Amino acid sequence: MSDPAELIDPLVSELPKWLPTQRWFGGKDRPITSVRPLGTTVLQEGDPLLLHMIVEVYQGDRMAPYQLVVASRDQLPEYLGSSWIGTERGRPCYEATGDADVTGRLLDLIAEGADVGSLKFRHEPGAEVKGGLRGRPITSEQSNTSLVYGNSYILKLFRKLSPGENPDLLLHRALQEQGCEHIAPLLGSITGDLYGEPATVGMLQQFITDAVDGWAMATTSVRDLMADPELPPDQVGGDFAGESQRLGQAVAKVHNDLRRALGEQVAEAEHLDEVVKIMQARLDSVAQVVPELAEYAPALRAAFEKLRELSGPVPMQYIHGDLHLGQVLRTVTGWLLLDFEGEPAAPLAERSALRSPLRDVAGMLRSFDYAAHQMLIGQPEDPKLTERALEWSRRNRDAFCDGYAKAAPESIGDPRSQVHLLRALELDKAVYEVAYEHANRPEWLGVPLASIARIAEEASNP
Ligand SMILES: Nc1ncnc2c1ncn2[C@@H]1O[C@H](COP(=O)(O)OP(=O)(O)O)[C@@H](O)[C@H]1O
Ligand SMILES: [Mg+2]
Repeated sequence: MSDPAELIDPLVSELPKWLPTQRWFGGKDRPITSVRPLGTTVLQEGDPLLLHMIVEVYQGDRMAPYQLVVASRDQLPEYLGSSWIGTERGRPCYEATGDADVTGRLLDLIAEGADVGSLKFRHEPGAEVKGGLRGRPITSEQSNTSLVYGNSYILKLFRKLSPGENPDLLLHRALQEQGCEHIAPLLGSITGDLYGEPATVGMLQQFITDAVDGWAMATTSVRDLMADPELPPDQVGGDFAGESQRLGQAVAKVHNDLRRALGEQVAEAEHLDEVVKIMQARLDSVAQVVPELAEYAPALRAAFEKLRELSGPVPMQYIHGDLHLGQVLRTVTGWLLLDFEGEPAAPLAERSALRSPLRDVAGMLRSFDYAAHQMLIGQPEDPKLTERALEWSRRNRDAFCDGYAKAAPESIGDPRSQVHLLRALELDKAVYEVAYEHANRPEWLGVPLASIARIAEEASNP
């Protein structure tokens, strides 16, 4: 290949077709109108050629920059067929994260602390990073793409980019400086240039082996309980309450460290007013599309309004922002929290704003509810099993709150004592879930709707 630059224009013209087939691509709701290259860096010359690209993806009046790593070879081996993007100037171009022959280059550059074009590959001060390993993508990839190197490292490549430091990196760094035990150690980062500003494009952490994610553990416990419906929950082999309690403690400790590192504020009345408005607006827009939500709208509105009357001060701080059982790992020593990027769909300003730590608690409580009910989806109604699911959910939600209360400072205390705040946050999350399930998994819609019905009922009969 004489000049890699010759590949770029034809390659970019393939992207409107290819991007929507990628799981991490966040704009599947609208057609792509055009894609423009913002910056391309050659990471490795020759065959295979490795390119780092930032492209602008336009969808009508909406635009978002995305990160791509693309490779090209004279001959595409069969195992890379599914990564193929297009054949430009006679050369097959493909998504590089599936090619273990080239992914090692990204780790090597971090180990070297290299600058390539406007990309800065760095290890954290004091961290030792060794190159020479091949990286393979994890299959559970969601909003981003993570590469695992042997048993040692995991490199997350952020897909949708924003100028500035990604909250995932910022919060991991802050927690690491506090000596927090509940995160995977941060080892390095990759920073690119976005509109003249530095932007985080990658984050390297220690890969934790022998870990199980919280969702898998929780749903196994639910399955055990359902398999033996006569046994009391504390006598079932897979009782999860002890884990839930430790998880609650871990979350509170992470909040304590975030507060120590990055400070806290007390919410002003105007802020709470703004929060209520955002919750109401979300409710209005979801109720328009999901008619089943309409009957609960008055109760939801009343629960949100209660935030304006909160008596004591409401502490605000940096939080995880998208906490659920799929974002926590149980290792041999305890619980780790992953993925501090916040809700991927939310704007960066919202994700990095100070918020009530109870928002994370509410996220986890919703997740317990989901874990309890997921087995019943698509099954014929069985009151006994429904009761069991509720029982599991109640037991584990309480255990989580017990753990949280144990480690939280007095200013926050037991999340359950902040009835109105916790209820509003949980309902707001459930409204979000209603929208999500309606759009993606209609058969799950009953899970958040049943919770909304139950919480609304509790609110009217305190
Ligand atoms: N340090 C780690 N060690 C082991 N597995 C990890 C680690 N970090 C992430 N994972 C796995 O990778 C998955 C995706 O990571 P996450 O940070 O949540 O990325 P995304 O932003 O794509 O959601 C996690 O659900 C977990 O299974
Ligand atoms: Mg995640």
